[in-house]
Amino acid sequence: MGKDKSSTMPDAATASELDEFRTLIEERSAILFDASRERFFAPRVNQYLREIGEQDAAGLLRRIRGSNVEYDRFLESLLTQETSFFRYPAIFQALERVVLPEVQARKLWSNPRVLRIWSAGCSTGEEPYSIAITVADALPFADAWQIEILATDISREALQFAERGVYAGRSIASVSAAQLQAHFSNLGDTWRVKPRIRRMISFAPMNLARSVYVGRMDCIFCMNVLMYFSEQRRNELIRRFYDALEPGGLFFLGHSESMKNVPVKFETAVYGDCKYYVKPVGPASEKKPVALGKGS
Ligand SMILES: C[S@@+](CC[C@H](N)C(=O)[O-])C[C@H]1O[C@@H](n2cnc3c(N)ncnc32)[C@H](O)[C@@H]1O
Repeated sequence: MGKDKSSTMPDAATASELDEFRTLIEERSAILFDASRERFFAPRVNQYLREIGEQDAAGLLRRIRGSNVEYDRFLESLLTQETSFFRYPAIFQALERVVLPEVQARKLWSNPRVLRIWSAGCSTGEEPYSIAITVADALPFADAWQIEILATDISREALQFAERGVYAGRSIASVSAAQLQAHFSNLGDTWRVKPRIRRMISFAPMNLARSVYVGRMDCIFCMNVLMYFSEQRRNELIRRFYDALEPGGLFFLGHSESMKNVPVKFETAVYGDCKYYVKPVGPASEKKPVALGKGS
């Protein structure tokens, strides 16, 4: 049966076309649409074909191979950007009660007193703003510090949203009333992050599949990003994070992510139900868990 050229419904992508999309995305952006995401991937690709009025997957493949802009637009339609303020409260408690006091003691006599934190895969900004609010509330004399939070993501749409700094609903459900009053301006049903918090953060587009120099960091958050990468890409990136951290620097992953079989020797620290990773000071030490109980 020949295809009816007047039809507006595109042909569904074939299995081999879907494989071509997967390979291209993994090569360029490190994101792996493997069997576990099968139910999501094909419908999304086919929906995108309909949205852009492309007649078949071969046409879309030509478009995204021929133009970075077309590729980026296609990728945007596939990204998972779920996030919220203080998504894992224990992580921000660890930042407030263990990490920041330790950094403060270590850098007390540094001049200038610089604190550099990277939120890698920051989505629409809730994570870096949560970090900034925690720093502003926990660091005595925060204004005496040069605080630089680098917030990067591959999605330009997410970054544009983040730069506006306006939030509502579920996204801010875990922000306390005191934090809303202190760090946001109320605009009807929405809340805008105040300039003091906004100024701590630089948002920048960055594809984590490519190696980019970011300078030395005291702390790196890469939460719920590496779970979409192949083991090899994940390990390459973890090595880059390790190299970017100061000795004694800290690395935070999402709750369901693990550091099994990684090529570098972080020490593991535990605070409540939060696990995080410390770059050893001096020669890499054995991987022993460091238990830091609540309030310790
Ligand atoms: C599920 S969100 C996580 C947001 C936040 N870190 C959190 O845990 O709430 C994953 C983010 O990773 C970004 N991402 C995926 N692949 C990326 C890549 N290769 N480079 C940079 N960002 C990427 C996505 O655009 C998305 O915003």
